[in-house]
Amino acid sequence: MNKILQELIGGKMNKAIISPSIMCLPPWNNGQDTIKQMEGLGISLLHADVMDGVFVPNFMLGTDSIKHLRRLTSIPLDIHLMIENPEEKLPWFDIRENEYVSIHAESTRHLQKALARVREYGARPMVALNPATPLVMIEDVLDDVDAVLLMSVNPGFAGQKLVPHVIDKIARLREMLDTNGKSDVLIEVDGNVSFENAVKMRAAGADIFVAGTSSLFAKTGTLAENTQKLWNCISEGEKQRCLR
Ligand code: DX5
Ligand code: ZN
Repeated sequence: MNKILQELIGGKMNKAIISPSIMCLPPWNNGQDTIKQMEGLGISLLHADVMDGVFVPNFMLGTDSIKHLRRLTSIPLDIHLMIENPEEKLPWFDIRENEYVSIHAESTRHLQKALARVREYGARPMVALNPATPLVMIEDVLDDVDAVLLMSVNPGFAGQKLVPHVIDKIARLREMLDTNGKSDVLIEVDGNVSFENAVKMRAAGADIFVAGTSSLFAKTGTLAENTQKLWNCISEGEKQRCLR
């Protein structure tokens, strides 16, 4: 049995997931058509960026948009809260079981309480870190999360460029999780997940890929073509990781 299969079966490598970034969808009703198309492409998570104009210098997806999104599709949401004091605002979002909800470590004084609240909804808590925030900030909440979101750009806008050290940060986080008996905690990367970067991100240990203008919604191909291309890049990264 080859090494890739061994890693996958041995549980050392979690299954890769593509999570398209909803903020990059074409506006209005052809966004709805695109979501229907994604269902047919086997997409199993939708990344919904919520921005309050304070934690990040932009506004995006309010509570009604999140509720509207749920009416459009049965694909579970991956809600990225880029808002101040999220623990007080969780009730606004009508959070459902099995949804991922990410809380930025930089956005609250009460991180463990915020993550525990997400768990109380039956949802999947994820802790998020901006590129400059060190991994040590989350070492005491590893029991409270199902995943860790590493921002690979500074949050707030699509179309930015990767902060280069984040590739190494993914590898250091995978090492930290595995040595703490948390191999089942997934790593999500968000921002400039281009076809080229996705190879390096998967090789470093990323599991969930937030796909925006750099890949799925790139002008160079159709959604179907870009989705297949991204899957190919992720599996290339898997090969590279197993050959390390
Ligand atoms: C940035 C957002 C990302 C971004 C991804 O704050 O969280 O979801 O839209 O898209 P690209 O590929 O344009 O970086
Ligand atoms: Zn995001």
